[in-house]
Amino acid sequence: MSIISKDISKAVQLLSSDQVVAIPTETVYGLAGNIYSNKAINLIFKTKKRPFFNPLIVHIQSAEALSDIVSHIPEKAKQLANAFWPGSMTLVLKKQSNIPDIITAGKDTVAVRVPNHPTTLELLKQLPFPIAAPSANPFGSISPTKPEHVERYFKENISQVLDGGLCKKGIESTIIGFENDEPIIYRLGALAVEDIEGVVGKVSIKNKKEVSPDAPGMLERHYAPSTRTFLTDNISEEIKKYEGKRIGILSFKSKLDDLNIASQIILSPKGDLTEAAARLYGAMHDLDRENLDVIIAERFPDTGLGKSINDRLQRATYSS
Ligand code: TXA
Ligand code: MG
Repeated sequence: MSIISKDISKAVQLLSSDQVVAIPTETVYGLAGNIYSNKAINLIFKTKKRPFFNPLIVHIQSAEALSDIVSHIPEKAKQLANAFWPGSMTLVLKKQSNIPDIITAGKDTVAVRVPNHPTTLELLKQLPFPIAAPSANPFGSISPTKPEHVERYFKENISQVLDGGLCKKGIESTIIGFENDEPIIYRLGALAVEDIEGVVGKVSIKNKKEVSPDAPGMLERHYAPSTRTFLTDNISEEIKKYEGKRIGILSFKSKLDDLNIASQIILSPKGDLTEAAARLYGAMHDLDRENLDVIIAERFPDTGLGKSINDRLQRATYSS
């Protein structure tokens, strides 16, 4: 029997009895548990095979609940929360002392967001506690953007994927930390840098590729298909290196005519970066299931969500 179901009260019951449930958000599906249940949070790490040094994001129902979780809210954090919550922005702020260390990997900060998905907002409304939710994929692999992706990963391990359909944004939230009350981008994501700067002015970007104390878990290779994947500015040139192989192509807007191509996905024929971001992981999941020898992905323009897409593609690839 499928574990995918729209039953919110079942999710409430499972989460209230220390179990984990996959939940829909507008970015990607998350693997959720009660932040105050040691058992549930341990289960999240175990199910994902996620190292304990990598802290989790706390999901709350509204910006008003923020002061229960964090001890200090800089002025610019207030402005950002007002502008973008519910939405695909995570704020990293000084934590309240009652937030368990296992959530924050022992750090004195905690990552928080209000997700913008009606099903999960309703779920949060019915729960007497916030939920921690990392993306619902095994550590290092492609994040899930539809219920079937999660089911494929975890059908043996979890009882329910709460069905909220396709994720509208399709890549993870943008993570913003604060140093001396000034915002700094720790992870590029579904909210474009330009939109953030429209509210708080120029922000610096510390989107580290290595394991860093600022955003542990920002590993160089992450979000990766199991098929070898390469990123290039020039697909036609790159293809020549793999003659005789089964090649998959992931491109922005143009179609390539080359007999050597076994499979091709064009993320947005009309050249819309928002649409391309929304379809990115779904396309990576699909190509990964086609028994290809290699996937060649095209680098995106480095503006707006193109920056975030390039970040994910970079981490999905082997540098050639
Ligand atoms: O869109 C999203 O953010 C999704 C959905 C489910 O909400 N969640 C997600 O979680 O992407 P996850 O666990 O895959 O990524 C969380 C990132 C990690 O890279 C982690 O290092 C960072 O958030 N993080 C969490 N707490 C932090 C903290 N206190 N300081 C810095 N980075 C933190
Ligand atoms: Mg993740």
